[in-house]
Amino acid sequence: MSGRTSPFSTDSFRLDGKHALITGGASGIGEATCRELARAGAHVLVADINVDKARALATTLETAEALHLDVISEDSIRAAADAITRLDILVNNAGIGHVGNISTTDPDDFDRLIQVNVRSVYLVTRAFLPQLLATRGTIVNIGSVAGLVGIKQRFAYCTSKGAVVAMTRQLAVEYPRELRVNCICPGTVETPFVEGYLEKYHAHEKDKIRAELRARQPVGRLGTPQEVASLVRYVCSQEAEFMNGSIITIDGGWTAA
Ligand SMILES: NC(=O)c1ccc[n+]([C@@H]2O[C@H](COP(=O)([O-])OP(=O)(O)OC[C@H]3O[C@@H](n4cnc5c(N)ncnc54)[C@H](O)[C@@H]3O)[C@@H](O)[C@H]2O)c1
Repeated sequence: MSGRTSPFSTDSFRLDGKHALITGGASGIGEATCRELARAGAHVLVADINVDKARALATTLETAEALHLDVISEDSIRAAADAITRLDILVNNAGIGHVGNISTTDPDDFDRLIQVNVRSVYLVTRAFLPQLLATRGTIVNIGSVAGLVGIKQRFAYCTSKGAVVAMTRQLAVEYPRELRVNCICPGTVETPFVEGYLEKYHAHEKDKIRAELRARQPVGRLGTPQEVASLVRYVCSQEAEFMNGSIITIDGGWTAA
């Protein structure tokens, strides 16, 4: 598989008629997920703080609409939840990174990571719970290997993604017959998130650091957004009905090593 195109044949893992909302849907893993779920037949809401980019993506997809959603704003989430009457699939994908150990992580930065990566999952899931319970819906949280193993210089990020793993398990136990809630934990994936990190922290040594990022994944390369999106599609599909409360790594072997 090249990782660039969908690996699914037309009659497997279909999501026809399903209504899906993807937070942070305008870029990277979220963008690829919007494309993949639309390809599977779902009606897709590209929900992002960057509404221009969300609109640009939605216009390229037959069954998609853009939605302005700021996952740290209760008002923004409430407005979205009031406007959307049906939801079968929620992908809590919006997230940000931060570099620092415990000493160099300022309280403000720590709080920001918790707000965007953790509190958002709580607020968005809570707001859309009635719609999801009504459809016996499915939630996919995008965690990270950072929620499963320690990574140097990622104190706040590891903390936030560990909480995403814990929220997934708690919700799966709370609503075992009413919902399916799973968490996908990618290793390093080629997205603007990683490019932004390289630009901000390693502008003069990007190739060296990129090589280090590849080397820490035993497969020897970064993942692609499409590879993660394909897994999201599977987890949302009827074929994955027995999967609940699962924490699924997709990391080129990183956490197996
Ligand atoms: N790229 C990686 O290597 C990697 C690895 C593991 C996990 N992840 C996780 O995957 C998710 C997506 O990452 P990505 O690499 O695709 O990132 P990205 O930066 O390419 O895209 C993130 C999107 O989220 C949106 N966003 C940011 N703050 C928002 C807010 N407050 N409200 C709504 N939308 C907001 C941005 O506008 C952007 O469109 C994140 O949760 C990230 O932690 C990424």
